[in-house]
Amino acid sequence: MLKIGIIGAGRIGKVHTESVKHLVKNAELKAIADPFMTKETEEWAKNIGVENVYSDYSKIINDKDIDIVLICSSTDTHSKISLEAIKAGKHVFCEKPIDHDVNKIKEVMDAINKHKVKYQVGFQRRFDRNFRAAKEAVLAGKIGDLNILKITSRDPGPPPVSYIKVSGGIFLDMTIHDFDMVRYMSGAEVTEVYAIGGVMVDPAIKEAGDIDTAVISLKLSNGALAVIDNCRRASYGYDQRVEAFGSKGQVAVGNVPESTTVLSDGSGVTAEKPQFFFLQRYMDAYANEVTSFINAVVNNTDTEVNVIDGLKPVIIGLAAKKSLALGRPVKIEEIEKEYKL
Ligand SMILES: NC(=O)c1ccc[n+]([C@@H]2O[C@H](COP(=O)([O-])OP(=O)(O)OC[C@H]3O[C@@H](n4cnc5c(N)ncnc54)[C@H](O)[C@@H]3O)[C@@H](O)[C@H]2O)c1
Repeated sequence: MLKIGIIGAGRIGKVHTESVKHLVKNAELKAIADPFMTKETEEWAKNIGVENVYSDYSKIINDKDIDIVLICSSTDTHSKISLEAIKAGKHVFCEKPIDHDVNKIKEVMDAINKHKVKYQVGFQRRFDRNFRAAKEAVLAGKIGDLNILKITSRDPGPPPVSYIKVSGGIFLDMTIHDFDMVRYMSGAEVTEVYAIGGVMVDPAIKEAGDIDTAVISLKLSNGALAVIDNCRRASYGYDQRVEAFGSKGQVAVGNVPESTTVLSDGSGVTAEKPQFFFLQRYMDAYANEVTSFINAVVNNTDTEVNVIDGLKPVIIGLAAKKSLALGRPVKIEEIEKEYKL
């Protein structure tokens, strides 16, 4: 049985811990580490049966018994911990993004090639059964040629400003999932980006140097167009929808409601709100992505979301950042040239 260590016990670290403990087969969770481990988190981990709880994550890196490391710490630590784990011969599942700095992602790529370990990036929406079915319809030609891909992605509320400060900004933190979805749903590459945005949710986000609301237009290598709209606040819950429109039809994925109950009375017809946030909407997808990763390790096959899939949305995010700053469309090759890719 493969043994897993989780580094980072915040929001997503807890999600992966619960999912590995309760939903993932074929692997056993041996340890969890976080340098800011609280008594409360330690108790929670022990209660769900995690054998070892550390504040020093190098105990996981140096544990010869551990085969797989899940990196769930804050974004600014991902490439450093990836390198340490890869050099120790661990297979690594890293939450998005690998880094904001393309040069650091290149270092991770070199280390993966040298040490021949498996590496997967946490773009769990690819493992959501609804998005997967829509993507399969697009790639099977059921909507003809893809003309327009529309993605709506709005959070129920913004994260703390302390998180925003180390997040790399909305494009590298939040929209990065949508950039990945554009590549996943279309089977094409992004060639050009034009981003506009503003602060409409919380002035503290502006003080932290970020925006909270954005619209991004993209051109794709297959001639199709894509548009993404983002907001850090949706009063009705997590708003995650996709529509692919083509020459022969369209395929759409809507929100998943808290229940399918619909109340009809004299004042109208009332349905339930969308599920509250990523934890509710994507719990199965989180388990599916880790299961897929474990299968790649067991069967020695390619991971479904490799390091290149981790790199490309970062480049698109950097193009979006530049577009917002300069007020003009930015070609992806402009960013690639900057990093000699
Ligand atoms: N795929 C998804 O749907 C998804 C959802 C949420 C977050 N994320 C990603 O997961 C990462 C964590 O996000 P979060 O929301 O859980 O944040 P969080 O702030 O809740 O948790 C981050 C944790 O990292 C720990 N940490 C800080 N420095 C560390 C270090 N040097 N070594 C180890 N741990 C360290 C913190 O103590 C904290 O417990 C981010 O990179 C974010 O982009 C992904």
